[in-house]
Amino acid sequence: MPEKFLPIKEALTLAKEGKKVAVRGWVYRKRELKEKIFIVVRDSSGIIQAVFPSSDKQAEKVTIESSVKLSGALKKDERAPGGFEISGTKLEIVGLAEIFPIGKDLSDEFLLDVRHLWLRSRHLTAILKIRHTVVGAIHEFFRSRGYYEFDPPILTPTACEGALTLFQVKYFDEIMYLTQSWQLYAEAGIFALEKIYDVAPTFRAEPSKTAMHLSEFWMCEMEAAWMELAEVTEVAKDEVRSILKKVLEECKDELKVLGRDVKLIEKYAREPYKTITYTEALKILKEKYKMKIEWGKDLRTKEEELLGEHFGVPVVITHYPKEIMAFYKPRDPKDPKVALCFDMIAPEGYREIVGGSERSTDAEQMKHDLKKKGAGTGDYEWYFDLRKYGSVPHSGYGLGLERVVAWICGIKDVKDAISFPRTMKRFKP
Ligand code: 4AD
Ligand code: MG
Repeated sequence: MPEKFLPIKEALTLAKEGKKVAVRGWVYRKRELKEKIFIVVRDSSGIIQAVFPSSDKQAEKVTIESSVKLSGALKKDERAPGGFEISGTKLEIVGLAEIFPIGKDLSDEFLLDVRHLWLRSRHLTAILKIRHTVVGAIHEFFRSRGYYEFDPPILTPTACEGALTLFQVKYFDEIMYLTQSWQLYAEAGIFALEKIYDVAPTFRAEPSKTAMHLSEFWMCEMEAAWMELAEVTEVAKDEVRSILKKVLEECKDELKVLGRDVKLIEKYAREPYKTITYTEALKILKEKYKMKIEWGKDLRTKEEELLGEHFGVPVVITHYPKEIMAFYKPRDPKDPKVALCFDMIAPEGYREIVGGSERSTDAEQMKHDLKKKGAGTGDYEWYFDLRKYGSVPHSGYGLGLERVVAWICGIKDVKDAISFPRTMKRFKP
């Protein structure tokens, strides 16, 4: 066996009849005919078919998901994936697999039980690669625009998004919480770095069992000094479009594995996204869909789905009723009933992928709003300090990584957009 193993994708791009190659990976499929044994091997880069004579003892013995090294000469074969197969001369079994528990037609719940094994499926491998590209695109987007990466603490003494969804952690003799958002700390960071971003785990004890909610997810957040609502919404649109462009550049093969319509992703990457207000959104729901939503009520699943359908590309919705918004979202001085905030809604039922706002600079108002929601203000004193020493207008938002990945991949549940999902009911393995 030669010591140089090629990634399968590279071996296939050689596309040269008779060229000797060696690859290593895992047995993806095996089919035995009278005189031949076909073995499809996968590695992280792709799959290739190898054919051995039935007399080959190793080929006969090898099982699905065994790890193997094999070598032979490339041979053109239209029926093989990639157009070439390996005419195998040597097969070495590295780790012989027991009968693999995952076959065809298994339930979603079973696949979650054996997630540690299902991860290696072509389906999840494609999603994980797209997720990798999305995160890379986010870093590139912000760094190329002069933002600094700023890491938040994960253990926090306070809530950012309401006490109801906090996870408690015993912290020596104290109680702390897992972070719900880096935002409050980011608002301190901008006084040093002005424009910052991060990609970090986020925790919410969400009782919702929807296909769009996890209790541990990754949020990609940004915060910028001197920035107001009209500008921050444009940053969010540019970010989403640049993620889509990067996926189109790097992940066409993966989109194909997932059966995703590339034309649709091209449309999302190309077309401009509109900005409308909450009040205008209610008007669309009423006129087009005959849905009467009382002004002041939050948009629910159905409403967001219909708005996504109406626009066909992501849409930004601003100026939600202040009463239903977090304490840090400021009132619009021109219309105090509404807050200077926004959500971005994705089409195809993926709903809210981004949430953000300008930040209030009025500490007294924020204290008042927190108290009204029944929260203490003592642990936020450091945060209110930020309003005392050179306060500036500033804004930021968070993008839900798994929702964006699920949308791009066209998968029905965010659980498949993360390696080991955590929800109320699902926390193993
Ligand atoms: O709208 P959210 O709650 O906003 C914040 O937390 C702000 N503090 C962010 C900021 O301004 N820096 O969450 C932001 C995004 C949502 O739009 C959604 O995409 C995602 O995070 N998200 C979730 N994703 C999966 N599971 C959950 N339970 C999620 N909750 C929010
Ligand atoms: Mg939100």
